[in-house]
Amino acid sequence: MSAVPEAPAVPQTLVGIEGVSRRFGDVVALDDVSLDIRQGEFFALLGPSGCGKTTLLRILAGFESPDAGTVTLDGADLLSRPAHRRPVNLMFQSYALFPHMSVAKNIAYGLDRERLPRAEVKARVAEVLETVGLGEQANRRPHQLSGGQRQRVALARAIVKRPRLLLLDEPLSALDKKVRAEMQLELKRLQHEVGITFVVVTHDQEEAMSLADRIAVMQSGRVQQIDEPVRLYERPGTPFVAGFIGANNLFEGTATGDGLAVPGLGTLPAVGGPGAGAPALLGVRPESLRLGETGILKGVVADVSFYGGVSHIAVRVPGHDGPILVAAQGPTRVQAGTEVGLGWSAADAVLIAR
Ligand SMILES: Nc1ncnc2c1ncn2[C@@H]1O[C@H](COP(=O)(O)OP(=O)(O)OP(=O)(O)O)[C@@H](O)[C@H]1O
Ligand SMILES: [Mg+2]
Repeated sequence: MSAVPEAPAVPQTLVGIEGVSRRFGDVVALDDVSLDIRQGEFFALLGPSGCGKTTLLRILAGFESPDAGTVTLDGADLLSRPAHRRPVNLMFQSYALFPHMSVAKNIAYGLDRERLPRAEVKARVAEVLETVGLGEQANRRPHQLSGGQRQRVALARAIVKRPRLLLLDEPLSALDKKVRAEMQLELKRLQHEVGITFVVVTHDQEEAMSLADRIAVMQSGRVQQIDEPVRLYERPGTPFVAGFIGANNLFEGTATGDGLAVPGLGTLPAVGGPGAGAPALLGVRPESLRLGETGILKGVVADVSFYGGVSHIAVRVPGHDGPILVAAQGPTRVQAGTEVGLGWSAADAVLIAR
């Protein structure tokens, strides 16, 4: 028998969004948005307040219609289907639980409305209570739960209907920092376990980076870049993404072919980027910078802060606005007022067209 070579797994598109725009009077909430969401992935929409994230989710859920563009699910038009006929569930920015109902009743509500047989509702609610770790709290009322537990009830209510696509609008924003970190892990585990495609909206870039398989960064209604977290961090494609994702040291100048010419600072090494003569931005991460006696740039240490695992050193370089941030492992001996050189490898610096 001859072995049949296996075809490489091609990610299957679940949702196709093509040229979607939506205006509210003078406000352009979405401006020609195109993106694909793949079957089974954890997708994040990330961007500052007002950039159009909720509007896009509401269009997918069927609570809002675009002025232009198409949306498909499994290749078939989604926009012509009313909200209640879509295999899509939206968990709102402020999830409202019914205060007078028990946890179990809150979760069963959507299934009861579909008039599913009682035994099936009971079995599905019990199963999902176990999944979110609330088996013991089934008979409590929402006010008898912690914030993190209430969040789990809202999640359970959303997944019990077994949607193809689960939309979560700022699902963790009501939680304090510690519970939030726990729930991030929980959300990731849950998505893996139930195998539903998740689209999570957040304006917290660390949250998006830690959760998502892919992230769409949005600004003013437009998609700036769609990539995996590491790629977004290492190869930001636009000046906005370079400044929005993680700490970065940014320089403005003109591309030279082997770097960036910056008036007053000379030529800073970098690889790739736009052709020589084009206006460009150079980004180099704090952890890619080295302090030494000599370097590409010279400056004076303005401030040193020790955070246990890392130290942050702010360096003032004459001719550059604002301090340059250097991150070093562990404690550092360098002191404020010292003259230092700053160096980096060209391969660690990103050039972006302006
Ligand atoms: N129903 C509406 N009527 C008028 N303007 C609206 C309406 N809905 C949204 N907008 C405007 O459209 C823009 C995008 O709003 P949207 O709610 O999608 O932003 P967002 O990215 O979810 O922001 P946030 O992070 O603050 O929730 C905003 O300028 C908002 O004021
Ligand atoms: Mg919103």
